[in-house]
Amino acid sequence: MPSLILPPTNLVARELAQGAHLFGSGEAINAKARPLVAELEPVAHDLARGRYQSPLRYPGAKSSLAPVIGRVITSAKQSREVPEINLLVEPFAGGASASLRMIGDGTVERILLADADPLVTAFWQTAADDTERLVDRMHDEWKRYVRDGGQKAVERWDYWRAWTPRSRMSPRNRRLATAMQCLFLNRTTFSGILHGKAGPIGGRAQTSAYPISCRWNSDALADRLRYIGHLYDTGRLVDVWCKDWRQTLDDVPEYYPQLLPSRVVAYLDPPYVEKASHLYRASFDPLGGYGGDGLGAARPSDYTLHLSLADYLRTKAQFRWLLSYDDHPLLTESEWLYAHDQMTPSRSDREVLGVRCWRISKRLVSTRYSAAGRVGKRSAEELLITTLPPATVPIDDELRVLGSPPK
Ligand SMILES: C[S@@+](CC[C@H](N)C(=O)[O-])C[C@H]1O[C@@H](n2cnc3c(N)ncnc32)[C@H](O)[C@@H]1O
Repeated sequence: MPSLILPPTNLVARELAQGAHLFGSGEAINAKARPLVAELEPVAHDLARGRYQSPLRYPGAKSSLAPVIGRVITSAKQSREVPEINLLVEPFAGGASASLRMIGDGTVERILLADADPLVTAFWQTAADDTERLVDRMHDEWKRYVRDGGQKAVERWDYWRAWTPRSRMSPRNRRLATAMQCLFLNRTTFSGILHGKAGPIGGRAQTSAYPISCRWNSDALADRLRYIGHLYDTGRLVDVWCKDWRQTLDDVPEYYPQLLPSRVVAYLDPPYVEKASHLYRASFDPLGGYGGDGLGAARPSDYTLHLSLADYLRTKAQFRWLLSYDDHPLLTESEWLYAHDQMTPSRSDREVLGVRCWRISKRLVSTRYSAAGRVGKRSAEELLITTLPPATVPIDDELRVLGSPPK
């Protein structure tokens, strides 16, 4: 069996060919992929078991679903097929609430975060690898612009909203500034939405009872940023990739072949089927979602992309996956989505890539979430779909079979 601690040889060759410098292109934290740390220390940090660990307030964050996802994964570990999970991959990471929870409570050994939005991934990469400089920048922004609120803070919000990196910036400084842009906008924009249409908390006139600074607690943020740095330093957070979901799922077997098929699991939380494009900079778009690619009307619709994700997960996924979605009827009714109860890979993918015919289980979960623009929490039904061993996927009041009413 290949070693857990050495990177695959084709990667080493690729890095040598690129002249392997220490800092990545943005696609990963560093150009040189770090080998997995074999002897992991327990996660010893005050935040490990905290309710909130993510420095980002993310629209659609799965903080309330995370314990349920953790339960499903813990239950799978009782099986012979999935005795332990050495790596949890989150290809739609956003605020990464589920991964952070599961690494903190020991459900999984390591996490790999990925997202198509370069603003979000620059944030995670910097929090992981350049933590203290980001903490300093965050304190500085708070003291100089945010703390006293008012028009100075709104002008700073406008500055970050319009900011683009200068070409002469070093890659490291560009990534730091992009991370600060993400963090600033996330903490000061209505509902944490990074998209251009949402305005500053408290409005432009700042006459509301909730000023622009109300979601920014510098000390708590510093703790959370340092927690991410700690996870990276200790090998618990293995990397942060800026990639389309498909690239992430394709690349994991190449980077971590020693974990296939049973020691790696993907948790996927794509944007909802109900229009989510107003929430994310990268709506469900393989090209990053910025609309500047010249595709115009030829740009694939979100629905097409939900279909291609389903097709990939049904026929090509080389490791087990757990998917959460809004409970949209199409998802479980359409055979092009998730109506099937079993994966159906082609014969050649079975033979060449080792893709299995794992069973597909579905459950409904009732959650409460904060909806953008509304006060308080609303109830929602969330759909969980998974290829984890079916006998281990719980059925009870919390994880209901389809069609059964909430208790
Ligand atoms: C529902 S959010 C994830 C929220 C996250 N689970 C949390 O708890 O904060 C969906 C994420 O998918 C990302 N995304 C959208 N299209 C993508 C694509 N084609 N590939 C990868 N990520 C994408 C968005 O940038 C967004 O961060």
